[in-house]
Amino acid sequence: LRRNASTNRSGTAHRRTPAHLACTDVRHGISFPMQVHVADHPLIQHKLTYLRDKRTDSPTFRRLAEELVTLLAYEATREVRTEPFPIETPVAATTGIKLANPKPVIVPILRAGLGMLEGMVRLLPSAEVGFLGMVRDEETLEVSAYANRLPESLHGRQVFVIDPMLATGHTLIMAFEFLRDLGADDITAVCLLGAPEGIATVEEAVADIGIPVRLVLGSIDEKLNDKGYIVPGLGDAGDRLYGVV
Ligand code: URA
Repeated sequence: LRRNASTNRSGTAHRRTPAHLACTDVRHGISFPMQVHVADHPLIQHKLTYLRDKRTDSPTFRRLAEELVTLLAYEATREVRTEPFPIETPVAATTGIKLANPKPVIVPILRAGLGMLEGMVRLLPSAEVGFLGMVRDEETLEVSAYANRLPESLHGRQVFVIDPMLATGHTLIMAFEFLRDLGADDITAVCLLGAPEGIATVEEAVADIGIPVRLVLGSIDEKLNDKGYIVPGLGDAGDRLYGVV
């Protein structure tokens, strides 16, 4: 596994994430570093800029979030499992590759993760979709699970967690533990934006998760403010997608 945190060409405040931390699989004695990949393609940065802009209305925000996720999903699925698949072209027999079984599972974290689902499914139409509801107490910033609609077992499954904002990191950590306990053996989280503090917290926690974890982001922003918002960020992703409810 490699670490790949690239620099941000757009000039948006961006720091490298903290030094790599290895994590040990207690069952097999294997070490897994966490890969962090910032997909700083110019198109991603262009769309992110409009997403951040407070003048962008909800319908445009939803469309941009979907488009962005499709671009991020391309990076996030680089290590999706495949298997050989013999076919015949009109000219000759050959062996291609196709997605392996069991197919990956996509897990949006409710509610803002739902705004990323279409973009992800567009690239992985055969994936199953599970749902995990996590809520953050705005005072304490503590996270708890309030809903779960997932396969009973995720044994041997690759899981793609989608959540637009990696702020404190507590939601992702809880989600990783939840999915690992159901048997997931490989997790990739796809986020639009991350705060350096949250990424560091997730990296530390991954040391105890014991399965490979990858993080794919559109940008690493400057910091978290004292209300737990990413700065400069884009505000409350759920509210901007669905309005204040
Ligand atoms: N969740 C959001 O929606 N926005 C932030 O900036 C942080 C957490």
